[in-house]
Amino acid sequence: MSIRTVATTPFNDQKPGTSGLRKKVSAFQVANYLENFVQSIFDTIAAPAGSTLVVGGDGRYYNREAIQVILKIAAANGFGKVLVGQGGILSTPAASCVIRKYQTYGGIILSASHNPGGPDGDFGIKYNTANGGPAPEKITDAIFARSKSLEHYRMVDAPDVALDQQGSFSLGGMAVEVIDAVADYADLMESLFDFTAIRTLLSGGFRLSFDAMHAVTGPYAKEIIEQRLGAPAGTVINGVPLPDFGQGHPDPNLTYAHELVEIMYGDHAPDFGAASDGDGDRNMILGRHFFVNPSDSLALIAANAALTPGYAKGLAGVARSMPTSGAADRVAAKLGIPCYETPTGWKFFGNLMDAGKVTLCGEESFGTGSDHVREKDGLWAVLFWLNILAKRGQSVEDIVHQHWAEYGRNVYSRHDYEGLPSDAAEGLMAHLKSQFASLPGRRFGNYQVKLFDDFSYTDPIDGSVSTGQGLRVIFEDGSRIVFRLSGTGTEGATLRIYLEAFESDAARQRMDAQEALSGLIAIAHELSQLKARTGREQPTVIT
Ligand code: G1P
Ligand code: ZN
Repeated sequence: MSIRTVATTPFNDQKPGTSGLRKKVSAFQVANYLENFVQSIFDTIAAPAGSTLVVGGDGRYYNREAIQVILKIAAANGFGKVLVGQGGILSTPAASCVIRKYQTYGGIILSASHNPGGPDGDFGIKYNTANGGPAPEKITDAIFARSKSLEHYRMVDAPDVALDQQGSFSLGGMAVEVIDAVADYADLMESLFDFTAIRTLLSGGFRLSFDAMHAVTGPYAKEIIEQRLGAPAGTVINGVPLPDFGQGHPDPNLTYAHELVEIMYGDHAPDFGAASDGDGDRNMILGRHFFVNPSDSLALIAANAALTPGYAKGLAGVARSMPTSGAADRVAAKLGIPCYETPTGWKFFGNLMDAGKVTLCGEESFGTGSDHVREKDGLWAVLFWLNILAKRGQSVEDIVHQHWAEYGRNVYSRHDYEGLPSDAAEGLMAHLKSQFASLPGRRFGNYQVKLFDDFSYTDPIDGSVSTGQGLRVIFEDGSRIVFRLSGTGTEGATLRIYLEAFESDAARQRMDAQEALSGLIAIAHELSQLKARTGREQPTVIT
């Protein structure tokens, strides 16, 4: 089998963002674009000859073509074996699970997460290290640096590998093992949660609906929820992964998961509803006519962890991203365990989990997970909730209300302004930053500014410093407004405004979040000159 060394010219835009390199499909289809990036990964990680790699993706458009390219470049770069999910499918948490279970050198995950797919949609690629987690910044920075000087890539000349059938194949001397994409992950879930209790719950008239949004979790949810847990067929809706996600936007929130929202807010709604995103790492949890804020979900999972076999032995600590509400901090304080505050993005949790400092972690962006893998995990959160519901025998709404009554409620919302012109968004952030010195001490009605800064984080394990992680306005009473620009978009800019206030008075805790936060929302608009700078007043998505 011949190895070709192909001359190429570097691209200057292959900088990985919050979660890998994400671009329009058309960008990845430019000659050598994918090849260059993959070679840059391999040059950077310098895996010893004969190493094993995991490759899989969320099934979106260009997944299959990209996998063939990656396999041929891996074979030419001395890998001994690649494990590929059948059909080229591996959800992000399943890829993490497989990397860890088979102790591979690392893995490549093809996904643009919750971004739309199809020929006009998005594609993405990221490298995960041997711990199963996204490569830390020092590696992604090195990959980017390498991509800017790359002059050649190596590739074997060979026919495509058949991905739809499990089995072992040889590609230029490298073994390609096409594995069951679901089994290892499903076994891991069964080891963590009380499947017997959940089965009993489901056979007792409890009804649920899981929306896979035509994305990767369809086969996982059918195997786990319908097969292993015995929920009736049809419990999983939109369960067939499609390259364009059925033209939907596979982001499990109240705007984009509207089919599930209609079911859960309709007549005869089931007891429990959940959805997951394009690559299966996000989750949305709903009760009957009730939305569980993801920040609350993390806190509730932490508070009820003892009800699950996998976490009954106790939690080492919890971690949340900076914009995520402080609800988890209150649970951690009560449990007497530490709570870490990290920048946005799952990669910051890896070191804490590897060092045994945290068991559970989460983000306000519908991400929850634990040290069972090194990615956030959508179905894991759904099963955690089902385990809690099976043990407590109460409704989702009652469990959340009881939690607020015990800990107080961190009233929380995120407002996203999508598709802004980049210069308007950057101008808005610059305008905010010009107020660093003048804002502290200023009073807005009942709110007095205590602190205004740009969040930076020093990793407690390796000492690495990440700056520029979001502007936080913290008020004397602990309320907060955070401004950040998204690092995962591929078009224009997305401004995220995160709002949080604490409510200890049980009589006021059930208030609508937008109403309770209206004062902070007005301050956010004023400070950022939102309308004048962007022409917008209404967010694209409210969480
Ligand atoms: C978004 C979320 C962030 C999450 C990331 C990947 O990033 O806000 O919490 O880790 O997607 O799923 P952002 O677009 O805000 O940079
Ligand atoms: Zn995702």
